[in-house]
Amino acid sequence: MHGFTQYTPTRIIFGKETQKQAGELAKSLGATKVFVVYGGGSVVRSGLLDQVTASLQEAGLDYMTIGGVKPNPRLSFAREAVKKSIEFGTDFVLAVGGGSVIDTSKAVAHGTANPETDIWEFWSKKQTVTKSLPVGVVLTLAAAGSETSDSAVLTNEDTKIKRGLSTDFNRPAFAIMNPELTYTLPKYQVGCGVVDIMMHTLDRYFTQTENNELTDEIAEGLLRTVIRNGAVAIKDSHDYNAMSEIMWAGSLSHNGITGLGAEKDFAVHQLGHELSAKFDIAHGASLSTVWGAWAAYVYDAKPARFAQYARRVWNVEEADDVKAAQEGIKKTVAYFASLDMPTSFSEATEIGLKTDEEVKKMAHGCSYEGTRTIGSFKVCDENDIYEI
Ligand code: NZQ
Ligand code: ZN
Repeated sequence: MHGFTQYTPTRIIFGKETQKQAGELAKSLGATKVFVVYGGGSVVRSGLLDQVTASLQEAGLDYMTIGGVKPNPRLSFAREAVKKSIEFGTDFVLAVGGGSVIDTSKAVAHGTANPETDIWEFWSKKQTVTKSLPVGVVLTLAAAGSETSDSAVLTNEDTKIKRGLSTDFNRPAFAIMNPELTYTLPKYQVGCGVVDIMMHTLDRYFTQTENNELTDEIAEGLLRTVIRNGAVAIKDSHDYNAMSEIMWAGSLSHNGITGLGAEKDFAVHQLGHELSAKFDIAHGASLSTVWGAWAAYVYDAKPARFAQYARRVWNVEEADDVKAAQEGIKKTVAYFASLDMPTSFSEATEIGLKTDEEVKKMAHGCSYEGTRTIGSFKVCDENDIYEI
């Protein structure tokens, strides 16, 4: 086990009706002027936005709402929101939605606290975030784990570059999680969420580090729970027990705990971001598209690790490590397909990737023009990315 720091300051409020506590919670953290961010309208149609603003009013807080965040959230929208937030005099940002809304809210918090800086400077790593505003979350979609993570992902639509920013300033102050708020999710989003939650653990699990028993067991338990309950949720998004397990797993999967004591890999996320930036496909679908190809390409870097995954998560009984590893990969890909998630380029995009030139261009983009490698289980350079 390597040394580590774990910092998870987010207060979690989990259960039915918890959204009604948003106002009091924000007030208890010193909020007076709350900037409420939401997406394309699902929270308006469900009545959630009204409940949240009523709770802010009851707590005596001034607020302003801004809707319209799109999935794979855009830099231009975040910049506009920052301007409005500065004009309003925001001292607290409240996200009501899924990962895209939360990540935009984090951008608004950084931009409002640093009015002299264009926010893309933070995402392009030209500047470091040294101050921000507190962000609260009312979560409507279990997937990205942004409600407790240190990360936020934006897409620069002019350059078609999708970038993540990791900083402890991205850790929300609180996360309200009522599984009932996810009942209205379309089946496709449930599938995307299950894949993304699994991937936040898988992208940590495939590591060369040995002797990390507790972290391994936490990861394997989380994966088994998500796989079991994902199969229920995809058929019935009104199953409170299944949606609860998935929602809680979504936070634990990406708050750091499933990878403590080992180096992370995250190659699949990097490959997925390239696909989303080019085709604007949903994040979870981008991950299911590339995982099987990635796993088949890298497992020989340590078949025993993939065999452990196959045996403990999928109950594979094969004694030979290589065969067990291959069986585990096959079962994972079949599970993604059972959720109606794409498992190849042609399934993921209407047009697919037709020419070798296109694939090379994406590999070049994913390697930041040949200046970086991705992953650590097997370090992948531009050529490996192309092969995958
Ligand atoms: O916009 P509305 O109308 O609200 O509809 C959304 C959106 O169309 C809908 N939705 C959300 N909650 C709903 C609902 N529809 C009905 N009922 C509800 N309760 O779902 C659609 C997708 O929403 P989005 O927020 O985009 O999904 P998700 O939570 O999967 O977030 C994806 C984004 O998060 C990033 C991804 O790259 C992507 O940009 N990620 C962020 C991470 C982080 N900050 O830690 C880590 C992840 O790995 C990921 O990269
Ligand atoms: Zn993800």
